[in-house]
Amino acid sequence: MLSLIGVHKSFGENNDFEVIKDISLSVKQGEFVCILGPSGCGKTILLYLIASFLRPTKGEIVMEDEPVFEPDRNRMMIFQNYVLFPWKTVYENILFALDRSTMDKNEKNKLVMKYLNLVGLSSFKDWYPYKLSGGMQQRVALARALVTNPKVLLMDEPFAALDSQYREFLGRNLEMIWQKTKKTIIFVTHDSKEAIYLGDKIYLLSARPAIIKKVYKVNLPRPRNSLDQGFVKLSKEIEKDLSKEFEKVIKDPSMEESLSHILNFSHEEGTL
Ligand SMILES: Nc1ncnc2c1ncn2[C@@H]1O[C@H](COP(=O)(O)OP(=O)(O)OP(=O)(O)O)[C@@H](O)[C@H]1O
Ligand SMILES: [Mg+2]
Repeated sequence: MLSLIGVHKSFGENNDFEVIKDISLSVKQGEFVCILGPSGCGKTILLYLIASFLRPTKGEIVMEDEPVFEPDRNRMMIFQNYVLFPWKTVYENILFALDRSTMDKNEKNKLVMKYLNLVGLSSFKDWYPYKLSGGMQQRVALARALVTNPKVLLMDEPFAALDSQYREFLGRNLEMIWQKTKKTIIFVTHDSKEAIYLGDKIYLLSARPAIIKKVYKVNLPRPRNSLDQGFVKLSKEIEKDLSKEFEKVIKDPSMEESLSHILNFSHEEGTL
C-alpha cells in the first residue's frame, strides 16, 4: 500500500551530510509498523519524507501505485510536541481539520464528537489546551488527525514525553483505535518495549546514515503482555541490537565536541 524504494536523503551544499542511506520497505494496508533507532539516526526525517514535507535525494515513495510528491490528507503526521492551537478549544481544534470539507455543520459535529469519544475526551470538549495534560493534548492531536479519515497515520514518538504508566495507557488506547479504524500506522519510537507492544513489524534503523539494520516480525497475541516469555525474549534481542547502534552514535566524531563538553561540565566543581 505504501512503499519506499531506495530512499536516500542528504543535506548540505554538496549533499555531503548523509542522513538516510538506502531504505526500501513496504507497508501493508492496516499494518502497524514501528520504526526503532538510536537518537539522531534519521527517524523523524524518514517520517517527513513519507509525509512529503521533504523530498528524497534519491529514490521514491509510492502510495497505492502512485509516487507521492506533496503532503496530503491521506498521510497525517502526529508530532512529538503536541501542536494544538492554544486559542481554540479542544472541539474547535479538531473541527479546524475539517475546515476545507464540504460537509454541513451537523455532519462535522457528529464526526468531531465521534473521534473525541474514541480518545475518551468528549467531556473536555470546551477546554482550552493549556488546561490539559500532555497526554490529553496528544489525544486531541490524534483525534484531529483521525477526523479527516487519512489512510496512513505517521506518529513521531508521540508519547515520549510522558511517564511510563501513562504511556502504557495511551498505547492501549491507540491499539484499540487502530483495531476499530483499521488505519495503517507508522510509529516511530526509541523504546523497544513500546515497539513490541504495538507493532506487527519492527524496523531497526542503524546509527546515521540510517539503513535498515534488522526487521522483526512480532507474532505475539494482542493485547501483549511485557511479562510473557516471547515478549521478554524479543525485547532482549532488540535491546542488544539497539545498544550496538547506540555505541556507534556516541563514537561518531560529530558527537565528540558536544560529548567532551558534557564530560568537562560534569567534572566542574559543584555540578552533579
Ligand atoms: N534540515 C536539516 N538540515 C541538515 N541536517 C538535518 C536537518 N534536519 C535534520 N538534520 C540532521 O539529520 C539527522 C537525523 O535527524 P532526525 O531528527 O531525523 O533524528 P531522529 O532519529 O529523529 O532523532 P531523535 O530520536 O533524537 O528524535 C540529525 O543529525 C540532524 O541533525
Ligand atoms: Mg526524532
